[in-house]
Amino acid sequence: MSPQPAAHFIHDFRQAAPYIQYLRGKTVVLAISSQVLLAERLPTLVQDIQLLASLGMRLVLVHGTRHYLDRMLQQSGSELRYHQGRRITDAAALALVKQACGLVRFDIEAALSATPSQTPDRRNPRLRIASGNFLLAKPLGVLDGVDMQHTGSIRRVDHEAIRQRLNEGDVVLVSPLGQSLSGKSFNLGLDEVAAALALSLQADKLIFLSSEAGVTDAEQRIISELTSAEATELLARGHYSSDMTRMLKTAIHVVENGVRRAHILSGMADGSLLAELFTRHGHGTMLAQAPFMRIRAADHRDIGDIIRLIEPLEAAGVLLPRSREYLEAHIGTFSVLEHDCHVYGCVALKHFADSSSAELACLAVSPDARDSGFGEYLLEYVISQARQQGAHTLFALSTHTGEWFDERGFQAASLDELPPERQQQYRANKRASKIYKLAL
Ligand SMILES: CC(C)(COP(=O)(O)OP(=O)(O)OC[C@H]1O[C@@H](n2cnc3c(N)ncnc32)[C@H](O)[C@@H]1OP(=O)(O)O)[C@@H](O)C(=O)NCCC(=O)NCCS
Repeated sequence: MSPQPAAHFIHDFRQAAPYIQYLRGKTVVLAISSQVLLAERLPTLVQDIQLLASLGMRLVLVHGTRHYLDRMLQQSGSELRYHQGRRITDAAALALVKQACGLVRFDIEAALSATPSQTPDRRNPRLRIASGNFLLAKPLGVLDGVDMQHTGSIRRVDHEAIRQRLNEGDVVLVSPLGQSLSGKSFNLGLDEVAAALALSLQADKLIFLSSEAGVTDAEQRIISELTSAEATELLARGHYSSDMTRMLKTAIHVVENGVRRAHILSGMADGSLLAELFTRHGHGTMLAQAPFMRIRAADHRDIGDIIRLIEPLEAAGVLLPRSREYLEAHIGTFSVLEHDCHVYGCVALKHFADSSSAELACLAVSPDARDSGFGEYLLEYVISQARQQGAHTLFALSTHTGEWFDERGFQAASLDELPPERQQQYRANKRASKIYKLAL
């Protein structure tokens, strides 16, 4: 007998499938802090970046230089000067910024050029990396009487040129240095560059990889999802480091201006990027403008997802079998629960001729999303729909889940309490389901 493949691997790979599909062709800006690069996380991080590129994601990488530069300035005996949280870049510092950018770029380029060691065909074309004069900058000028010298801000991003490179399948690598129209160079902030790239490219995601594990609550637990309004509230309480404050402000700004998601996660933990992108719980903090979860009326495009949810339950005898034809004909009675664009649950609300009662049916939550309250949300949704439509009683018929309904206020009911048309179906299908009712 051949050995069983590792169960965890199969489970995790299957769970990742919808995310792999979803992320193909999506534009992602990855902002990598210089701390992550200094901590020698590059070799493993690059493997993950190569994997994302091979899965068809359009990647724009932007790296920081701050910690390299601090080190170089200290070694040269120079003072580190900041104003309003921005470095004051004098001529000597600018020369070091250019050096640091060169150093980091070459390291990233070299690491990305390596063919993954387990690639079956090592003649596969290497990942191509594109760089260029993508950032048009201008001087930041004099702030509160302080001349910021060669510290700049972004005037424009040449997003057309970047798009062209992405269309050709290249990974784009951007340094936080911009050029002015008069040919001068300006030192730029990583957050500002990352935000400008994400906004001008209308990216699907902006991801910060830093030494911070994510946004934490008062008990120092990582908050895996935040709306921009919740993040703004947390910021107002102000107990975050200056790095986190900057990332969080940038993340709020981009999601409120069209970037679908921003993520803040640790670049220090091996595989954090993969865990964030391909698992439901992620690894760091994900921000969006609107709440992540919603329940909506199903339409024909949802039939595949509904079948995926209910087929195993039908096979186990938990749910009554429903054919694709049945689903097509009755899709108007179904609602689906979506979380971060993936369907995790479904429920149907059936009406009877007498209209004073309705039935909750086909309630299912994907096994990997159970115990998160999704079942309860679907139930609340159906209850409010049934009320709106004038029903006084909601029935639920179940062979395995009676206790769940019991704990949510349903009571046992007898067959003759069901509307006559439903009694006939009940007798015909011989499932001997238990009948529950809820007064609305
Ligand atoms: C029933 C079901 C929809 C609940 O979904 P869910 O998203 O996990 O629900 P919630 O997160 O709101 O509730 C989870 C709680 O219900 C409990 N629960 C789950 N199934 C249960 C069952 N069959 N009997 C009793 N309790 C159950 C869980 O243990 C958990 O309890 P806890 O909060 O004390 O840990 C889901 O388990 C499912 O899809 N089951 C298979 C299909 C089914 O039975 N459908 C109903 C027939 S119409």
